[in-house]
Amino acid sequence: MNQKLKVIDIYRKKINLLKKHNKSYFDNDNPTISDSEYDSLKKEIFNLEKNNDYLKKLNLSKKIIGSPPSNKFKKVKHLKPMLSLSNAFDKKDMNDFVSKINNFLNFKNQNIEFSSEPKIDGISATLIYENGVLTKGLSRGDGATGEDILENLKTINTIPKKIKGNNLPSLLEIRGEIYIGKKDFNNIKGNFANPRNAAGGSLRQKNPKETSKIPLKYFAYGFGVIEPMIFNTQKEFLSKIKSWGFLINPLSKIVNSLDEIEIQHQYIDSIKSSLDYDIDGLVYKVNDLKLQLRLGNTSNSPRWAIAYKFSAEKAVTKIKDIVIQVGRTGAITPVAKVEPVTVGGVVVSNATLHNEDEINRKDIRIGDTVKIQRAGDVIPQVVSVDFSKRNHNSKKYIFPNKCLCGGATHKEINKSTKKEDAVRRCFKGYDCNYIAREKLKHLVSKDAFNIDGLGKKVIDQFWDLKIIREPSDIFTINYNKIQNLEGWGKLSIDNLKKAIEKSKIIELDRFIFSVGIRHIGQENAKILAGFFQSIEKFSKLFEKNDRKKILKHLIDLDGIGEIQIESINNFCSSDKNINIIEQLIDKLKINNFKTRNKKGKFSNKTLMFTGGFDKMSRSEAKSLVENNGGKVLGSISKKLNILVVGNSKPTKKKVDLAKQLNIKIVKENEWYKILDL
Ligand code: IVH
Repeated sequence: MNQKLKVIDIYRKKINLLKKHNKSYFDNDNPTISDSEYDSLKKEIFNLEKNNDYLKKLNLSKKIIGSPPSNKFKKVKHLKPMLSLSNAFDKKDMNDFVSKINNFLNFKNQNIEFSSEPKIDGISATLIYENGVLTKGLSRGDGATGEDILENLKTINTIPKKIKGNNLPSLLEIRGEIYIGKKDFNNIKGNFANPRNAAGGSLRQKNPKETSKIPLKYFAYGFGVIEPMIFNTQKEFLSKIKSWGFLINPLSKIVNSLDEIEIQHQYIDSIKSSLDYDIDGLVYKVNDLKLQLRLGNTSNSPRWAIAYKFSAEKAVTKIKDIVIQVGRTGAITPVAKVEPVTVGGVVVSNATLHNEDEINRKDIRIGDTVKIQRAGDVIPQVVSVDFSKRNHNSKKYIFPNKCLCGGATHKEINKSTKKEDAVRRCFKGYDCNYIAREKLKHLVSKDAFNIDGLGKKVIDQFWDLKIIREPSDIFTINYNKIQNLEGWGKLSIDNLKKAIEKSKIIELDRFIFSVGIRHIGQENAKILAGFFQSIEKFSKLFEKNDRKKILKHLIDLDGIGEIQIESINNFCSSDKNINIIEQLIDKLKINNFKTRNKKGKFSNKTLMFTGGFDKMSRSEAKSLVENNGGKVLGSISKKLNILVVGNSKPTKKKVDLAKQLNIKIVKENEWYKILDL
C-alpha cells in the first residue's frame, strides 16, 4: 500500500471510531470513553485533515457535528412535575377522552372548549422568569427533576432573556418544545438519526458554544408555576405570552366539538409535510384553566389534555418468519419478522401479530405479503394480508402451545366476561428464563428503579453472560467481567456504578411497582404503599398466615379489587418469588411512603362515598380527598372516619351501618361547604 492509501486507511478508521463513540453517546446514552479521550480523537482527525489536502476533500468529519452530550448538568427539582400526555389514535379515542372529562366534571352535554395545538416532535424545556428575568432553564429529565441547561437555552436568540409588560407575574414558568427546523437539519444531519435526536444532542452540549452552532428553535405551549396567576384560559395565556415576545405556534386554534376536532385534525394532517418542523399529532387541551385545575392529573398525565396522533404510516412487506416473544407477565406474543421496510422514516423489521386469535382471524402465514403500520412510538403491527400474492403451497401457521422455556401455556378465563382470554401465557414466573429476563428489564426501567446505562439491551447482554440473572444481582455486579466487553470502558462502568448505587435508595411505591406483580401498575402501587407505609409491613405479605389476614383488608382500598388481590396472592404464594424479593430488599434502603399534602383538609382521615353528587363526579370527589391528604375507602368499617352521602340514590344499608358504627355522616350540602364550593 502506498503512503497516501495508508493515511486514508488510518483516517477512515478514526472517522469510524468517532462515529461509533458518537453512537454510544447520542443514541445509547452510554459513553465508553472519557471526554478528553474523545477530544483527542477529534484533534487527531483534524490534524490529519490539516496536513493532507486529499483528506479534506473526502469531507468525512464535516458530517460529524457537535461533541457528545454531557451527563454533568446540575440536577434541579421542577417546581411542578413535567408530565407526559396520553395518546388518542382515532375518533373513538377522542370521543372517550371528551366523555371521560364530562363524566369527571359531572357535566351533561355541556359545551367544552379545547385549545388545539400542533404536537411538536422536539425536546421539552422549561424557562423560569423571576420579575421578568430569565433565571433558570431546565430540561424535562424524568419529569420530577430536570437538568440545568440554562446557558444552552440562552443561545437560542428567540427565547426572551428579559420580558417587559404590564401585569407581569413575579414568577413565570414557561414550558415549550425545542426543535431543529427540517431544512436546517438537512444541512447538519451528520450522525443524527432525526431532527429530534439532533435537538437533544445539541441541548446537552457541555459547551454552549457548541449548542449555538446548531440552529435550535422553539415554540412555547404551556406553563408550570405562575404567581400571581393572571390567566383564565389557555388561549388567553398563549396570546399574552406572544405579546411578551415568546414564539407560539401559529396553527393553534379553539375548537368546540368532536366534529371540529376531526376537521382540524384532517386539515393539519394534510399540511404537515409543508411545515418546517416535525409534528406527530395535535395536542387538545381544555381551554378553561379552572376546569383544568378541577380535572387534575393521573400519576403520569393530565386528565385535561391528550395527544391526538396522526394516522399510522403504512407500508407493504413480506413475512420471513413468525417467532414468539414472552413478556414479563408470561404473555406469549407472536412477532412477524419482516423484510426490512421504511415506515414513516424508520426501518421496520419486526411487527407484532398481537395473539393467536388475531393470526387465525387474519389467516396470517409465513411468506405472506402484508401491509404493516406504525403509529407514533407504538410497536409496528401487521394490518392485513394480500391473499393475491400468497404462494399456493403456503401452510397455515400453527401457534405453539409451549413457552420458549418449554413449559406449558394456557389461556385464562376472564373473571368479569367469563370468556377465554385471547392471550396465551406461561405461568412459571421467575422459573421461566424468558419471563425472568423481561422482569429484570421492567425492574430497571424509568418508572421503576430508573437505572441509567442499564437499558434493555444491556440487560440482554448481562443475562447472556450470566452477570445478572436475578434482581439482587444488579447490586453485586462483577465489574471485572464487564471491563473487557465490547462497548464498555472505564467511564461507562463508572457511570453505571454510580447509577446503581443511587438506585439503592427507593420509595416504597416505586419498589412495589418495580417488583412487577401482574395487575399492579403505578397507581395501584401507590395505593398499596399508602396502605402498608413501610417495607417491613409490606413484607408481612410473604408469610402465609399474615397474608390471608392482610389480603382481606386490601378490599377496603378504593382501586384495589379482587383481580389485584388474587394476583398479589399468587405472586406471594411462590417461594421462589419471595426469595428473590427478600434478597433484593436486603440490598436496598426503601423509604417509608410519604403521604402527599399531609396538611390538607382531610389529613389522616378516611372517607367513603355513597350516592351521586350534583356538582361533581365520584372520581372528582375522590381526587379532591386525595389532594387534601385523605384516603378513600371502598367499604365501611371501624377505620372509616366520614361517610359522605350524595343526594342521588345513596345506599341505605351503608348509611345505616355507618350510623351503627358511629361514623360521621356528611350530606351533600355540607360536603360542598367543607370544600368551599
Ligand atoms: S402540553 C402535561 N403542548 O409532548 C404535558 N406538549 O407527550 C403538557 N409537546 O413533554 C404538555 N408540543 O414535550 C404540550 N403543544 C404542545 C406540545 C407538547 C409538543 C410535547 C411536550 C411533552 C410531550 C407530551
